[in-house]
Amino acid sequence: MALNRFDEVRRRHAAAREGGGETRRAKQHKEGKLSARERIDLLLDEGTFEELDAFVRHRCRDFGMDEQVYEGDGFITGWGYVNQRLVYVFAQDFTVLGGSLSETNARKIVKVMDLALKNGAPVVGLNDSGGARIQEGVLSLGGYADIFLRNTLASGVVPQISAILGPCAGGAVYSPAITDFVFMVDQTSYMFVTGPEVIKTVTHEEVTKEELGGGMTHNEKSGVAHFLAADDADCLRQLRRLLSFLPSNNRDEAPRKATSDSPDRRDSALDSIVPEQSNVPYDIKDVIALVVDDADFLEIHEHYARNIVVGFARLDGRTVGIVANQPNFLAGCLDIDSSVKGARFVRFCDAFNIPIITFEDVPGFLPGVQQEFGGIIRHGAKLLYAYAEATVPKITVITRKAYGGAYCVMGSKHLRTDINLAYPTAEIAVMGAEGAVSIVYRRELAESATPEQTRAEKVQEFKDRFANPFVAAEHGFIDDVIEPRDTRPRLIRALKMLENKVDTMPRKKHGNIPL
Ligand code: HXC
Repeated sequence: MALNRFDEVRRRHAAAREGGGETRRAKQHKEGKLSARERIDLLLDEGTFEELDAFVRHRCRDFGMDEQVYEGDGFITGWGYVNQRLVYVFAQDFTVLGGSLSETNARKIVKVMDLALKNGAPVVGLNDSGGARIQEGVLSLGGYADIFLRNTLASGVVPQISAILGPCAGGAVYSPAITDFVFMVDQTSYMFVTGPEVIKTVTHEEVTKEELGGGMTHNEKSGVAHFLAADDADCLRQLRRLLSFLPSNNRDEAPRKATSDSPDRRDSALDSIVPEQSNVPYDIKDVIALVVDDADFLEIHEHYARNIVVGFARLDGRTVGIVANQPNFLAGCLDIDSSVKGARFVRFCDAFNIPIITFEDVPGFLPGVQQEFGGIIRHGAKLLYAYAEATVPKITVITRKAYGGAYCVMGSKHLRTDINLAYPTAEIAVMGAEGAVSIVYRRELAESATPEQTRAEKVQEFKDRFANPFVAAEHGFIDDVIEPRDTRPRLIRALKMLENKVDTMPRKKHGNIPL
């Protein structure tokens, strides 16, 4: 009798591992995708996966569903370890009814999310799902809403990371959208609320699924995705690397990583990176690489709004979030997309105790009708708001331009940034000298017998007065003007000084960031 019971357990476990069967799994492999269990194995440290709810079955009896019952109901959930740190995981198995979400497998996700919240560890979702299980109607919609609620409650408490590893439609994209980071795989993963067929019917637009919701589309155009991977294995490798920079929850510190890169390392290459002429571009990522531990920088949103660069690195082993204007792209100006990108990153860092280092070289907000109509006022305000509300240690280095409203926004002293440094090449003013002269001396220029000469003189006067960091330093808005080669040791010493920083917000339920 006992033997029979053991057999039953083994039989059911084997059935759960089988998923939708060999044929469908082979199709998955042929399309260049791994199975849900193979993905979990690659994500977690070897042999650490503990499965929950392998015996859950759906309860739907309509539309012939009583004939299609699978052990585990197509979702694999549980916990394991990544670099010896606890994570909760769920994976949708596309071989079972297209990874569609049912009332019962939604409960499986809810269970691991509740555990993650109580135990303070990240949740990783491996998504490969056709959305709400059509046969279950409102029960499946309710399942989604239950998950959305958990995503929202967990936001800012534990990191939530989504990998999109197949065609994800309908509700299958909204849960990832609430999570902190979204990975996609080139050519095999898709995200859309409605697919090409529906779009064709409703708006008569013809678009391929790759153009509409492929990995590059969401990495480059919509900004829905933060990372692009070459294949499933590459995606899971990148995901493990991201986790290594993050704390497990909002009460925790990110793990410290030992480095042989000296905290006192000075780098003379930094002295000549910023060109003398202020309209000549350079790559801010060169500055970042020379400053951080072992030149190791994990860029987020690499393909989106490239005029701002955000990502994680370490300084003397401690995780920092880096926000940097990119003079190499649109002169590093702030526009709608870069403001939103920067704001979301700053808020993530603030929620998870990650100090924010800002490298600033910004000529201002991008002028233009499209920007104004698109709401640059509202979107730019998001970045301002995010910096202002952040209470983690904040350090800003102005490498060159800090013009206009963008000076205020990019971690200025006035937004309670702790340490503000500037290179000797810094220029801090309301606007560039040419623009300023055109406005302030409009009448003189019009009346001048030699307008070109008058203009040149006035521009030089403006540059002499403002194209330097000293006026701001005289007012204490800049704490020190440093030699670029000293950037790394200066940042590390400032971070150490700020290690026990406590700052607060006025009592409130929550703010009202201009969404
Ligand atoms: C039940 C589903 C399903 C679903 C796919 N399948 N989606 N079963 N509910 N939502 C099943 C198929 O019947 C098929 O079963 C198997 O999964 C594989 O699907 P295929 O179509 O053969 O695969 P493929 O050609 O790769 O296309 C994948 C797909 C497509 C693009 C995801 O299946 C699709 O468009 N599905 C429907 C997407 C959708 O509209 N979902 C509902 C969204 S509404 P067999 O037995 O043949 O293997 C929603 C509401 C929530 O989610 C809103 C919250 C805000």
